[in-house]
Amino acid sequence: MSDPTLSAEQQIKILQEQLLHTQRLAALGELVGTTTHEFNNVLMTILNYAKMGLRYSDDATREKAFQKILAASQRATQITNSVLGMARNRSQQIEPTSLSTLVEESLILLERELNKYRISVETSLEDVPDVMACGNQIQQVLMNLIINARQAMLEGGRLIIRLEHDSKNQAVNLIVRDFGSGMDPSTLQQIFDPFFTTKQGPDETGKGGTGIGLSSCRDIIEQHGGKIRVESSPGKGTCFTIKLPQVKSKSAGLSDSAKYAPIPSSSVA
Ligand SMILES: Nc1ncnc2c1ncn2[C@@H]1O[C@H](COP(=O)(O)OP(=O)(O)OP(=O)(O)O)[C@@H](O)[C@H]1O
Ligand SMILES: [Mg+2]
Repeated sequence: MSDPTLSAEQQIKILQEQLLHTQRLAALGELVGTTTHEFNNVLMTILNYAKMGLRYSDDATREKAFQKILAASQRATQITNSVLGMARNRSQQIEPTSLSTLVEESLILLERELNKYRISVETSLEDVPDVMACGNQIQQVLMNLIINARQAMLEGGRLIIRLEHDSKNQAVNLIVRDFGSGMDPSTLQQIFDPFFTTKQGPDETGKGGTGIGLSSCRDIIEQHGGKIRVESSPGKGTCFTIKLPQVKSKSAGLSDSAKYAPIPSSSVA
């Protein structure tokens, strides 16, 4: 229950924090569901190749079995590391963080879902500086954006995830671009509003339809002193750009001069 001695602003802040926490737990719950299946597939591979190695004693078959077991075990390690990274909550502090690691871990966790919906992912994670960020929160943002992109491409399609160094502003841009439905200007104006959604409800994976995904993304990015920007065109697709301060910057926030170039009318910052 709310505490009557707190101001409305304080109460909103507390509720927002509770919402973020609940979202994190929900995201974790979804992940456990997705990754348990994935983990089971990997275990079946290991089991089958171990049986094959025991059944056939020739070197070539055993060599093949060991290679398959090794590859499957490495994948199992990746899966558990990604889940544990998220479950441990890493640290809640803003600290030097590798965006490419976050992208890779998020993609491992969503790989099965993206394959199922025939989304092909193209990444370009060039060597960029670390950013000052809370890894867990940024992973949450990234996963929200990837799931939105996937949901905008009902027939499947391309998803591009890119990192760019913006040396002028001592920042790194994380770009998530899809070639899905896109949005008309009036939808675009509202997407960061809490509870704004155009979805009928959760899809068969249990995701979407609450309308808090992007509003919490924006809160998180703003708490990092970063910026989130979107450009979209109906029928062509959508591109989200997140700008986060790089490690070397003097303060955690972007300086006043770190403003974007003029944004086209179909974009919202
Ligand atoms: N990549 C995208 N392509 C097209 N429309 C999008 C995209 N991302 C967001 N939207 C639009 O913005 C709305 C708000 O997105 P948001 O993630 O906040 O909520 P949601 O996906 O509807 O529900 P949830 O909070 O469960 O994620 C969506 O309902 C959709 O209309
Ligand atoms: Mg969403």
